[in-house]
Amino acid sequence: MNKLKHLAIIMDGNGRWAQKNSLPRTEGHRKGASVVREIVTHCREIGIEALTLYAFSEENWGRPKDEVSALMELLLEFMTKERITMLENNIHFNPIGTLEKLPDFLKKTLFDLEKETSVNAIMDLNIALSYSGRQDILNAIKKTISQINFDMSFIDEAMFSKNLSTHSCGGDVDLLIRTGGDFRISNFLLWESAYAELFFEKKLWPEFTSDDLDSIIQNFSQRDRRFGLVKNL
Ligand code: FPP
Repeated sequence: MNKLKHLAIIMDGNGRWAQKNSLPRTEGHRKGASVVREIVTHCREIGIEALTLYAFSEENWGRPKDEVSALMELLLEFMTKERITMLENNIHFNPIGTLEKLPDFLKKTLFDLEKETSVNAIMDLNIALSYSGRQDILNAIKKTISQINFDMSFIDEAMFSKNLSTHSCGGDVDLLIRTGGDFRISNFLLWESAYAELFFEKKLWPEFTSDDLDSIIQNFSQRDRRFGLVKNL
């Protein structure tokens, strides 16, 4: 049975769910945020060590201004409402991405909550915001170069991955789920997902439930993870 330590989710389909229900797109995100609450709680209960959620990509800045503002407001609301739950449940809230780009009102709450929960060790809840996997790799390259004093022989995978934003809060992804029916990873955790098991779920994110997650995890636990090796030699 495979052990699931780091779960990553691309929460896609909020807009289509809203459209399907004749609601504005922002209502889809609001419903999506309530699903985030359910899934985080469930992951904590079933003992997942790290959960990384793709809440806002670097590319999402190109969406209409009112949708971007609504998402920022929702994130603020989520952090304010869930603060106590995270503290009581020993969850480390850890935002990753190009956070400087976020509005000031959100940054302060993000950093305060990260600091306040930083001693919590049961589960890392990584929220990817203004996140780009390629950008994260580029940042890691820059950091790595500054650490090696021009001696390339110092660089290896272990050393390099210490400079990625997921170092110490999940690292390599075991299972990557994308809801919403598309089959792509959209610039998410590119390095960390090298050997992730992928699962593409048809349901839109606002329709996703903890039972759905359980059946995906059941499927994951039966998969033959060979990591490029040959079994039973
Ligand atoms: C993709 O759906 C989803 C997003 C861009 C945002 C995800 C945000 C949330 C689930 C809510 C807030 C998050 C937290 C952590 C509280 P889409 O709009 O691309 O859907 P579509 O493909 O149907 O248009």
